[in-house]
Amino acid sequence: MTSTLRVRLLQIHRWTGLSVGLLLLFLAVTGLGLQFRHQLQPLAEPTTTRVASCERPTELDDQIAAARAAHASGKLESVILGEERGAPTQVRFSDDATLFVDPCSAQVVQQQARWGGLFGRLEQLHRFRFLEDNDVANAITGGTAIVMAVLLVGFGLALWWPSSLRWLKTSATLRPGLKGRAFDLNLHRTVGLYASVLLLAVAITSLPLAFKWVRQSINVAVGSPPPPAKPKSAEPPPGAKPLTMGALWERAQAVLDHPTKAVISLAKTKNDAVEIYAIEQGASHAEARSYVYLDAYSGKVLRFEPYAASSLGNRIYRTSAAIHAGEFGVLLQLLQFFGTLAIPVMGYSGISSFVRSRRSTRVEAGSFQVEVASVRDEAIGIKSFELTGLGGKGLPAFTPGAHINVHVDHETVRQYSLCNDPDRRGRYRIAVRRAPDSRGGSQALHERVQVGDRLVIEAPRNHFPLERGARHHVLVAAGIGVTPLIGMAQALQRQGKSYELHYFTRSIEHAAFHDELSQPRFNGRVNFHYAVEPERLRELLRRVLAERPEGHHLYLCGPRRFMEVVEETVAGRWPAESIHVEHFSADPQAQAGPCVPFEVHLQRSQRTLDVPANKSIADVLCHHGINVVTSCRQGVCGTCLTGVIAGNCDHRDAFLSDKERKAGDKIMVCVSRARGDQIVLDL
Ligand code: FES
Repeated sequence: MTSTLRVRLLQIHRWTGLSVGLLLLFLAVTGLGLQFRHQLQPLAEPTTTRVASCERPTELDDQIAAARAAHASGKLESVILGEERGAPTQVRFSDDATLFVDPCSAQVVQQQARWGGLFGRLEQLHRFRFLEDNDVANAITGGTAIVMAVLLVGFGLALWWPSSLRWLKTSATLRPGLKGRAFDLNLHRTVGLYASVLLLAVAITSLPLAFKWVRQSINVAVGSPPPPAKPKSAEPPPGAKPLTMGALWERAQAVLDHPTKAVISLAKTKNDAVEIYAIEQGASHAEARSYVYLDAYSGKVLRFEPYAASSLGNRIYRTSAAIHAGEFGVLLQLLQFFGTLAIPVMGYSGISSFVRSRRSTRVEAGSFQVEVASVRDEAIGIKSFELTGLGGKGLPAFTPGAHINVHVDHETVRQYSLCNDPDRRGRYRIAVRRAPDSRGGSQALHERVQVGDRLVIEAPRNHFPLERGARHHVLVAAGIGVTPLIGMAQALQRQGKSYELHYFTRSIEHAAFHDELSQPRFNGRVNFHYAVEPERLRELLRRVLAERPEGHHLYLCGPRRFMEVVEETVAGRWPAESIHVEHFSADPQAQAGPCVPFEVHLQRSQRTLDVPANKSIADVLCHHGINVVTSCRQGVCGTCLTGVIAGNCDHRDAFLSDKERKAGDKIMVCVSRARGDQIVLDL
């Protein structure tokens, strides 16, 4: 998937979640309550679900008569016969009143509105039946289900999908030890992944319930005929009266196989048939409805549609309704319960991570925001991040070897080399190795930053440029040190310049950008070296760097020990000015020397300040309001380079070359100190 597409998907996913999230939460909370209706309703509403059972219930007509007597104003509409012995008979009137009648005593035990009681109210809310128009209610619930299935679950899975199957396990593991936004993102992704199957099932099974066109589409897809029109009763003889409910139910029982639950709907006009649907004994699920249509006057069976013989389209529709209602046993109920519970969890983690990402991207002077267009796993422990300007804005140009400062948060600024071809305008790519001893930079980028996030960065700087007049460039990298060199290789390749790249890693799995550098255009230029032992490394380097032909320049980047070995190998063979080095970390030995107090005199402002043993020059300058820009504060990035007018420097940085140190006219004030009592700076 292209990075632009990922950004668009994330924007849609994010804004859909934020806008439709409340509606989803509403459906989830009301749906959660309905999940265990069968188990909880008898406890919460005992009189509507259970009465004393008896051997011989009273006649159905007597029960209906009792209900009519108690609710004389209502027009009888339908009767629901309980699923088991001891369940009251529900007599429903056209004004939505439902009377619960004890079948043993024919006494009315409870009267309730259609959506009355705790679970009736929950169902009304869940199905939006508080709206006048059922079509509008169905459009809202069905529309929300489509949005959830496509924009949230579908797009969410596409965004979650790791760039390589190697990272599948990492992407699917909940890590409770994480903190802040990293925890939010991990929770959102992992819970979302596992809940997605359940949420998709909930969303898809709701569609046939909400939309007639979905039911019709199912029929078309499986080759089932559309449902037949309801049969009509014959024209009754003048003065004839419809049969009683009791008589009609008896006729229906003659064709139904031991029904356990039935709903008898009276004819609305004199030509309508009486419709009875029942769940027969041994039915595969609670929505396996068998229909009987009776002539309201003669009781003749006009049509009998046993569920098992109904069309495939109808069975798919009814089965999905049963699945949606959790009517397939406790295991499905529990799965759906946890799937639905995931919605508030994902809502919280999504919003929290969004808010935290916005909070952490406040822009300070000299910096600007970029958007993360893609995040890729490049090798074991290495991710790359592609950055683009906001709203399609361009980005400052850069040259090969440049780096940018990334403001990981308000306190953490890290330098990362740009590892794409500078010719690819409008994009920066950085690669970050997750350091085992990360002080927050690489760990935060690995765990918190995802596509669509914003990062605050500073414009590129280049302290490691290619030598313009060189006839040949030898690029030597180890591990993550390949990052500045890959951009150089791409630029040199494009410009048709002479170069070679030697890339040392532990294994192919540790080699970042392996596929990119293995493309045919790099054939004969890029050499991978895996798991090279120190002795063999020296031998190999001696062969490659044995002598320095005129105009050849060497560029080095990698772990300190590796660089020392290369530098030892070329010492005396390659002149210092032909060796270009990029350090990622400070030299601990250089910084381990004793710290003694000294004075710093500022030539231009004519001020003299004391630098105590436990403070750096940069600390003291900053304390006195003198603006020296710092970044890494480790003597690595070169940001705090300051001119020296007089005095000896105790260089403790990893930035200046030996030649520059000898010249003594520059100092990195974040780590280096004075050798002697005073140093005069060009400030
Ligand atoms: Fe990076 Fe001083 S701040 S070298």
